[in-house]
Amino acid sequence: MNKGLLDIEALGRPEIEALLDRARDFQPLQQRKEKRLDLLGGRLVVNLFFEASTRTRISFEIAAKRLGADAISISSQGSSVSKGETLLDTVSTLSAMRPDAIVMRHAASGAPHFLARHLPIPIINAGDGQHEHPTQALLDARTILDNRSSLEGLRVAIIGDILHSRVARSNIHLLAKFGVDIVLCGPAPLVPQELTGLAPGVSITYDIREALRETDIIMMLRVQLERQNETNFPAGEYSRFYGLRAENLALAKPDAIVMHPGPMNRGREISTEVADSSRSVILSQVENGIAVRMAVLEKVLQ
Ligand code: NCD
Repeated sequence: MNKGLLDIEALGRPEIEALLDRARDFQPLQQRKEKRLDLLGGRLVVNLFFEASTRTRISFEIAAKRLGADAISISSQGSSVSKGETLLDTVSTLSAMRPDAIVMRHAASGAPHFLARHLPIPIINAGDGQHEHPTQALLDARTILDNRSSLEGLRVAIIGDILHSRVARSNIHLLAKFGVDIVLCGPAPLVPQELTGLAPGVSITYDIREALRETDIIMMLRVQLERQNETNFPAGEYSRFYGLRAENLALAKPDAIVMHPGPMNRGREISTEVADSSRSVILSQVENGIAVRMAVLEKVLQ
């Protein structure tokens, strides 16, 4: 990972396990009054966000600071990107200021890979288009393992706009490496058949009841309207057929957990009742985002 962290697809099981174990070491720190360690004192992390973000950007910043590093965040609005500078020029300019890593989110799939090929600095992918969002899959796996003894043999339903979801792709790659039975579900145009070829153990259903039946883990996804040209998205119909509510949640295993990477559209893909219920681990996912990103930054910067 000397080149940073670009995607989950390229990682082996031992590397993933090491990051998840290290994240577990950092979890108790979040409850302490004094939260800072000095493992990365004097190092500099730049967060460069070309797309909107709340959770990912803030938690990368907090993670860097909790490790004792300096962190600065910039977004494309308010930077010279809005004056027409190319991506490579923007990032070359930043790397001339000698940060130790750049965390980047970009709307183009492959943008961090492109930069990693051209620049000597480690790049951490914080979400590239509809391709991958590796730290999200790691924090999701950490959250599942906080609730289950192992990933092996679990049945995980990923429901919603799979086509445009980098969260789904990273999760599919990660979970498949651990022998998880992965069921993708959503309206046919948003769940193309080719996705079954992405990794072993992936199946597709267009019926949410079938996806939920006897499942251990439910991951709900937001409809990525910003990545579609849809002007008249049938929100009411979508929610009737693919929304998670108390009555269809009852089809899952009695101890099934409900996940969502956020931001949620309450009343569309998930009801408020379910989102706020004891089955929901959505805020644990957010909390684990810090521990997991600490593990990733430590690995990349050391
Ligand atoms: C996701 C993203 O940006 O890919 N959000 C996140 O990082 N937690 C999911 C989304 O935007 O729907």
